[in-house]
Amino acid sequence: MTSGTHAIWQQDLLQALALNQAKPESKYVQLATVNTLGLPEVRTVVFRGFIENTCKIVIHTDQRSGKVEHLQAQTDIEICWYFAESREQFRIAAKAELVDQDNADQRNLRSEHWSQLSDAAKSSYFWPQPGQVLGLNQPEFEQQVNVAPETRNHISEHFSLVILDPYKVDHLQLTSPYHQRKIFELHGDDWRHRQINP
Ligand SMILES: Cc1cc2nc3c(=O)[nH]c(=O)nc-3n(C[C@H](O)[C@H](O)[C@H](O)COP(=O)(O)O)c2cc1C
Repeated sequence: MTSGTHAIWQQDLLQALALNQAKPESKYVQLATVNTLGLPEVRTVVFRGFIENTCKIVIHTDQRSGKVEHLQAQTDIEICWYFAESREQFRIAAKAELVDQDNADQRNLRSEHWSQLSDAAKSSYFWPQPGQVLGLNQPEFEQQVNVAPETRNHISEHFSLVILDPYKVDHLQLTSPYHQRKIFELHGDDWRHRQINP
């Protein structure tokens, strides 16, 4: 059950993005992974868009970050996205694919995303390994995070995309006088949906 090139839930999400576009935080999404001990870990990431003509969601991350190790062992993730202006939540279960520097199929997509980053964002991919103990004194640290333009013009080896391929979407709207909640599930190539009690 698709309509045009968009999965049906994607139209709701695109509408939410449009309604909330004045709020920069509407692009912030909570991404939950399962760590190698089987425990949940959640953090905020930035929604970077859909892959053209699909409902696959792109986010960026540092290949050295903890979540990458989780995704290598467990590709199922969930994201949770709240839109304050329109008062609605999307919980999206998806399979995650990592696109690192060795991924030849998505080389162009990775370069495109790199070229759209601000200089500050590019620089962060040359910083010391995230999550490690701060091993430098302040001047050393400042020198290392002050990345030269000629360095950041090349794609950092640490820059990775995470492509999320959704298979279940739970859309809750805090409408008045009662809330509305829909579940969308992928069956083969078809998205089916049903309304459930909120
Ligand atoms: C507003 C905001 C946006 C963020 N965006 C990203 C992002 O797009 N990608 C990312 O990897 N981390 C992002 N972070 C940092 C993560 O929340 C997290 O601290 C970091 O990725 C390390 O997480 P990990 O150790 O679980 O991998 C963002 C943090 C905040 C507060």
